[in-house]
Amino acid sequence: MNNALQSPPRIWWKPAEPAEKLWVRLAFGWCIVLFAMMPLWHLKGGQNPSGLRYRVDPKAYMARTQEFIKTYKVGEDHGIPVVAPPPGSDVYLIGLQWQWQPVLKLQQGASYMLHLSSYDVNHGFNLYPFNVNFQVVPGYDYGLKVTPTEAGDFRIICNEFCGIGHHVMVGRVIVTPPEGGAP
Ligand code: CUA
Repeated sequence: MNNALQSPPRIWWKPAEPAEKLWVRLAFGWCIVLFAMMPLWHLKGGQNPSGLRYRVDPKAYMARTQEFIKTYKVGEDHGIPVVAPPPGSDVYLIGLQWQWQPVLKLQQGASYMLHLSSYDVNHGFNLYPFNVNFQVVPGYDYGLKVTPTEAGDFRIICNEFCGIGHHVMVGRVIVTPPEGGAP
């Protein structure tokens, strides 16, 4: 009888069964396929955004964001500035405990350079209800070319635990139909 005190007879020196060898080969082959897919997906799959990345001082990024807010502010939503930058401009969004600043008002079909960064700790940018996810890391300005394809009123949900107010950290992106287009 084998139990925790009495080990089974050692058989590791016996040759592996053909089926076991086959499975080891298959598993190894699959590992190689998945490994090859990592760079392949980056280049061909369109799943990993190849955005710009810079190191940035969180205070400097905050100052840049406030300047951006001052330049294009059009209103306020629950104390958070609403900002409508012109198409083609650089857009700054900052995550901090526990809010997203500012509320962005973008035009459908127009392109923007969206900058993302954090003032304090790691936050998670999740554009609800779309499957768009980014780590928002303090010290890095993450630049991403975006073109809203759908008009609507969307939410930014923080999906990285960032402290006691994590669950209330909800931001907003408003996408308006293109000028002259149907409302
Ligand atoms: Cu920010 Cu969770």
